[in-house]
Amino acid sequence: MDAVPATEEPWHRLLDEAARAMRRAYAPYSGYQVGAAGLADDGRLLVGCNVENASYGVGLCAECGLVSQLAATGGGRLTHVVCVNRAAEVIMPCGRCRQLLSEAGGPGLLLLTVSGVRPMSEVLPDAFGPDALQAARPGG
Ligand code: THU
Repeated sequence: MDAVPATEEPWHRLLDEAARAMRRAYAPYSGYQVGAAGLADDGRLLVGCNVENASYGVGLCAECGLVSQLAATGGGRLTHVVCVNRAAEVIMPCGRCRQLLSEAGGPGLLLLTVSGVRPMSEVLPDAFGPDALQAARPGG
């Protein structure tokens, strides 16, 4: 599947914003800068970049910043997300971040991926989520 043309809205704007965020990444250890951009269901633009640390394991992915900005600026649901590398090429969110994005956007969240626009339900099938916790509660 071909990637969506970069001129198609809202992906054109999100690719631009992700690249802008990527240039602010703090990635001195891996040298791998990542930017993420997304939209909330009220149209808010959200961005994030990866922030590494001398204590390697505590580094933050770009998507962590984006999801934090979603909560910090009023909450809501993510509707569209894209992540890019230093060359401004689309990359896939890592496994941990698929989990984060899944809860922040639900199965219908649209991701621009290396294989085109795909819903979260395809990028993280059979996702673990809050419903599993609810179902496991006594009487749930
Ligand atoms: N990284 C992200 O920011 N998001 C991803 O989905 C994949 C990986 C970052 C983490 C680390 O700072 C660098 O890329 C190399 O793994």
